[in-house]
Amino acid sequence: MHARAVAATAVAILAAVTLLSPSSPARAGETGDATVIAHRGASAYAPENTLASIDKAAQLGFTWVENDVQRTKDGRLVVIHDDSLARTTNVEDVFPGRAPWKVKDFTAAEIARLDAGSWYSPAYAGTRVPTLEQYMRRVEHNHERLLLEIKNPELYPGIEQQTLKLLGNEGWLDQRHLGRLVVQSFSADSVRTVHELKPALTTAFLGKPPVAQLHAYARFADLVNPSYGSISAGYVSSVHAVTGPHGRRLGVFAWTVDDKVAAWQVVGYGVDGIITNKPDVVRAALRAN
Ligand code: G3P
Ligand code: CA
Repeated sequence: MHARAVAATAVAILAAVTLLSPSSPARAGETGDATVIAHRGASAYAPENTLASIDKAAQLGFTWVENDVQRTKDGRLVVIHDDSLARTTNVEDVFPGRAPWKVKDFTAAEIARLDAGSWYSPAYAGTRVPTLEQYMRRVEHNHERLLLEIKNPELYPGIEQQTLKLLGNEGWLDQRHLGRLVVQSFSADSVRTVHELKPALTTAFLGKPPVAQLHAYARFADLVNPSYGSISAGYVSSVHAVTGPHGRRLGVFAWTVDDKVAAWQVVGYGVDGIITNKPDVVRAALRAN
C-alpha cells in the first residue's frame, strides 16, 4: 500500500477508536462527537461573515457559527474578518480615494452602503456587512450558537466591554444564552479582560501556548483553540489535563479543517471542536468513522 494511504488508514482507525471508546473524555458537542463550527459561517458556500453565511450554516444543519468582530470610525461593532474592507466588499469602487480602506476609518453608514457579496458570487450581490446587532438577531432567529472572535483588539480600545454590553442588550448574557456563546481572541489580554468583566462566560484563547504555560492561560480561558497543523495528540492531552476557570478541563477547538483526512486526524488527536469553512465535509468525515 502507498505510504500516504497507510497513514490515512492509520489516522482513520485511530479516529474511529477515539470516537467509539467508552473511555473517551466528555466532549463539548451535544452528540458526544467533536462539535463542528462553521467558520465565518458556512464560508465555503456563501460570503464570509454575512447573514447569508450563517443562514447557509443553518440550512446545512449546523448550529455553531464563528465570526469576527471589529469597530467602525463612529464606534459601531461590525462583523468582518480583515482590518481592511478591500477584500470582501466593493469599497475600492465606492470610495476610491480612501485607501487602505480600514474598517476603523469608515462610519457604519458608509459601510452599510457596501456590497459584501459580489466578490464571492453575483448570486450574493447586495449582501451587506452586518452590524453585530443585526448578526446577533439572526443568530437568535436561526437558533444558532456563536463562537465570537474579537478581532484585532489592539486597534479598538475598550472593544471587550462594548461587545459584552451589546451582547447583554441583545439578551445573550443570561443563563440560557451563556451555554450558546464562546468569546475568543488571539490576544490573551483581550480574553483575560472578557473573563474578568463577565466571569460566567466561556472564553477561548486562539493559538498554541507552550504546555508549561497552560496553567496560566487556564486562569481566564476555558478553551485553547490552535491551528490544526500545529498540534498533536500529546498536545491535546496536555491541554485536557489542565482545569480551566470554571472547574472543567480545558477544551480544544482546532481550525481551519476543510478536508476529511484532516478531520480524521484532529478527531484522532481528541479535539473537542472542529472549526471549518466546509462543515458538511467535516460532518461526512465524522460519520464515515
Ligand atoms: O476561529 C478560528 C479562526 O477564525 C482564527 O483565524 O484568521 O480565520 O480569524 P481567522
Ligand atoms: Ca475568526
